Amino acid sequence: MTDLVLSDLTRSYGAINAIDNINITVGAGEFLTLLGPSGCGKSTTLAAIAGLDQPTHGRINFAGRTLFDAAAGIALPPEARGFGVVFQSYALWPHMTVEDNVCLSLKLRKVAAPERNRRVGEALELVGLTAYAKRYPGELSGGQQQRVALARAVVFRPALLLLDEPLSNLDAQLRQEARVWLKSIQRELGLTAIYVTHDQEEALSMSDRIVVMRGGHIIQMGTPQDIYERPVHPFSASFIGSANLIAGGSVSEVSEQEAVITFGDGQAIRGVAPLPLQSGSPALVAVRPQNIRLAEVPDANRLLVRFGPANYLGDRFEQEAFLGECRLRLQAIRPAPEGQGNIWIDRANALIFPPDERAKDKT
Ligand SMILES: Nc1ncnc2c1ncn2[C@@H]1O[C@H](COP(=O)(O)OP(=O)(O)OP(=O)(O)O)[C@@H](O)[C@H]1O
Ligand SMILES: [Mg+2]
Repeated sequence: MTDLVLSDLTRSYGAINAIDNINITVGAGEFLTLLGPSGCGKSTTLAAIAGLDQPTHGRINFAGRTLFDAAAGIALPPEARGFGVVFQSYALWPHMTVEDNVCLSLKLRKVAAPERNRRVGEALELVGLTAYAKRYPGELSGGQQQRVALARAVVFRPALLLLDEPLSNLDAQLRQEARVWLKSIQRELGLTAIYVTHDQEEALSMSDRIVVMRGGHIIQMGTPQDIYERPVHPFSASFIGSANLIAGGSVSEVSEQEAVITFGDGQAIRGVAPLPLQSGSPALVAVRPQNIRLAEVPDANRLLVRFGPANYLGDRFEQEAFLGECRLRLQAIRPAPEGQGNIWIDRANALIFPPDERAKDKT
């Protein structure tokens, strides 16, 4: 069942489009994540859905209702949309206790007192803060405050939950716990959720689908497995999974879904081609650091490189290597000696793409 539809959404600031013709359809009960680097338009998209900002063009529909239509001059205010919203700053009322903060939205909705108390109790239990009900925000840790903000956003069982980097201020361990817990709340209450992050691990572990954004555009949309295992754009491969992008080669051989890219020094890499390529045209290879091998180097896809220094990461080393001018990062249990040596890339792990026209853009 379709819940939320964003059609041709554009938000301009002068000559700059913070988002540029965005189209996304979200299913009921789906957990959809907007993922991308700083400034790519994630918050702008979320604010447009919440009604906190008005796009320049486009339409937003939710459960068959028009929330926004630039051409028709329709823009429902945030309170008429009634979504649960959590932004990066928790914005709790400092003079109200935890339970009063959580209860406020129910009072505003004129929910009767017994029902209110029941629901607040339930929400605080859900976020593990029952014992903190009478405390004030100033008496809580950052992580606890963030949980209060979430309890407040879910207590009135919004049809749509909008979360803008809600776990950003938690330390690594708490963040991991909060991910599991937030996901279970969303499932338990059957909420449709739109989640914003620039943390790839968070996106991969929590989402039903991920929208990869750059410079106000959608680069790829799909399940976490789609995005990680079958990137359709070099940006997806480098942003999710930190793939090396080896540029400067051209296509010397191409068949269905496979190609060979040859570099200026005559070295070649055979790999998978997710997009159509033309023989003789420029291309690049995307390969993840953990897929570059140092041991048992066979003939095919063997490359001569110059190894640089290695950094110890605990369970492995990270080392740099230069293929001509191109700097690669690789990971290995035992690093190679500095200087000349060989690496090997399995052809299934080498993705050959047309050049990324917008690679020099910051976002
Ligand atoms: N009020 C504004 N005036 C001008 N430009 C703006 C305004 N708000 C946002 N922008 C621009 O729109 C673009 C998208 O901003 P947005 O806040 O959506 O990014 P984001 O993806 O949420 O980034 P971050 O991860 O840093 O929060 C940025 O280039 C930003 O500078
Ligand atoms: Mg933002």
